[in-house]
Amino acid sequence: MTTAEFGGKTVFISGAGRGFGKRAAELFFSQGANLVLTDFDDTMVEQALAPYENAANQVVALAGDIGNEDTSLRAVKLANDTFGALDIAINNAGIVHDQAKLDALPSSTAEKVIQVDLLGVFYAMKHQIPLMLKRHEQTGNQCNIVNLGSAAGLMGSPLLSAYAAAKHGVIGLTKSAALEYARKGIRINAVCPAFADTAMAHEAFDRSPHGPQEAERRLVAGVPMQRLATIDEVVQAILWVCSPANSFYTGQTLAIDGGLTAF
Ligand SMILES: NC(=O)c1ccc[n+]([C@@H]2O[C@H](COP(=O)([O-])OP(=O)(O)OC[C@H]3O[C@@H](n4cnc5c(N)ncnc54)[C@H](O)[C@@H]3O)[C@@H](O)[C@H]2O)c1
Repeated sequence: MTTAEFGGKTVFISGAGRGFGKRAAELFFSQGANLVLTDFDDTMVEQALAPYENAANQVVALAGDIGNEDTSLRAVKLANDTFGALDIAINNAGIVHDQAKLDALPSSTAEKVIQVDLLGVFYAMKHQIPLMLKRHEQTGNQCNIVNLGSAAGLMGSPLLSAYAAAKHGVIGLTKSAALEYARKGIRINAVCPAFADTAMAHEAFDRSPHGPQEAERRLVAGVPMQRLATIDEVVQAILWVCSPANSFYTGQTLAIDGGLTAF
């Protein structure tokens, strides 16, 4: 990757206040991209904006629940009003539920996870694609959508059934949309991490009845590399997918999982 291959591109990232989203924003920005950032509420948006105090002309943000269609509408409008374009969208915001067998998982929890993790990606792409089609028509350049899937979207995940269902759904959306827009200048892919060293994973360990250390030990025991992914290992893959040099790559699920899905 060259150092400025995202120079002048407008990049949307959801869930940019922490974790993969925050780090992806930093790396795209360091390569000259304009940023449109979203997160759940004002506090998380402040966290997302904190590294860019002196770059107000290059970074904008809004707060909103990605499970509400209106948030995606507003985000795309913000990109268009501010930068007149959208080149790259990283649909990253997501939630996981506590581990539970299916019959013990509250239906309200399953509905919430599907709303945010699956419908949130549907709403996002629905509103991003028209602006990207316009961009491609005007410039001939490819646009990119990367959806955050999960290893749980590639295999059965005991005790995480609703999350796994939502992430399998994200892969169905990704592949279907990739086929629909393959000749229209939009590449659409999913990056699928196994457990990574973010607050999401550590909060889940903290809530485990086994205690955080034992929960993490049990979890990584099933990963061939026997450790969590680092944030950068996942985010570098996201940038690689979006690289203009990667121009024949679409409709794919890229597992960053220490070998987990090789079984
Ligand atoms: N960390 C992992 O182990 C792991 C593994 C596989 C997949 N993933 C996926 O990667 C993505 C990012 O995960 P992360 O580990 O960085 O998580 P994280 O919890 O550290 O960060 C997620 C961000 O999304 C935001 N968010 C959550 N719900 C939202 C909503 N309804 N509307 C708007 N913003 C919302 C949060 O406020 C947060 O800033 C998620 O889609 C997650 O499912 C994570």
